Amino acid sequence: MIILPKRATIIEVGPRDGLQNEKSFIPTEIKKMFIEELKNAGIMEMELTSFVSPKWVPQMADAGEIVSNGLDVKIRNIVLAPNRKGVERILETECKAVAVFVGASNQFNQQNINKTTKESMTELIPIIQELKAKEYFVRACISTAFYCPYEGKIDPSETFKLCLEFVEAGVDELSVADTIGMAVPNEVYYLFSQLKASFPNTLITAHFHDTRKLALSNIFAALQAGIDRFDTSAGGLGGCPFAPGASGNVATEDVVYMLERMGISTGIDLNLLLKAIDIVRPHLSRKIESAYFRLNTLAE
Ligand code: HMG
Ligand code: MG
Repeated sequence: MIILPKRATIIEVGPRDGLQNEKSFIPTEIKKMFIEELKNAGIMEMELTSFVSPKWVPQMADAGEIVSNGLDVKIRNIVLAPNRKGVERILETECKAVAVFVGASNQFNQQNINKTTKESMTELIPIIQELKAKEYFVRACISTAFYCPYEGKIDPSETFKLCLEFVEAGVDELSVADTIGMAVPNEVYYLFSQLKASFPNTLITAHFHDTRKLALSNIFAALQAGIDRFDTSAGGLGGCPFAPGASGNVATEDVVYMLERMGISTGIDLNLLLKAIDIVRPHLSRKIESAYFRLNTLAE
């Protein structure tokens, strides 16, 4: 018998992953309105932005403004940083949840952060310990956990070892990502079952890009492995600029629709989610392609 959770947590990554790969800069005020409307829809954990080099990712150049003036303390406001410089900038804000990120694949990490995976870990481990001493919530995002656009298949034991290093450093959460949307459900079930069994005191989250339309199947596989936390992006926006061929994240509205139909509550109002998508939609370089959006709006 399949045992499924009664409720699941959606971590909305739209304002960060969703917008980082857009062609033209989305006005800061629009991003802020998008974040507000996502909160209205019931999102309780959200990646707001990232402190990264504006030369590398121009869409995130306004990170400081996004997290200025009064973060809503009722929700978990997550901000990403790949290095000490980024974390130091987060420490100057009201944000209390930091996400560090690293690639299980060395070549991807070099393309994304200009360091080997080992160099990134050497920098990040003491930073994580410092953040925990200051009582920050720390999330570790592990990219290319299954496949890499440069190295191909990643051995699950490599991803596991990286997760173990993060757990030993004291992270609160592992967000394990199929960056290029290539994993299939049996691979997802295998890795997440191992992580769940090995790290019972760490939150474990699945982050699927939907390049090959495998994300919902992978979410079902992850649910069966005991995972009840999913990174998703309103409108299915997103993609990493340094992962060629990767498309958007699985759409929040499609995941919420599926989970609710399965009797798994998410606390998210789908109508308000559509309102949030409508705020950014006129500024996007792409069409919204999620099934729920298509079937429930009059948009072309
Ligand atoms: P670098 O060129 O090696 O860095 O880039 P550097 O240390 O030589 O510094 C170069 C310049 O960047 C300097 O400024 C630094 O001050 C500045 P300059 O003197 O030229 O004016 N700099 C920074 N500025 C702002 N914030 C910082 C920062 N650090 C240095 N934190 C670096 C190295 C890491 C900065 C660069 O490679 C970078 O910014 N990479 C970020 C890439 C990125 O954001 N990728 C997308 C997010 S990850 C993702 O999407 C995957 C995920 O969704 C999971 C999944 O799906 O896989 C999480
Ligand atoms: Mg991503």
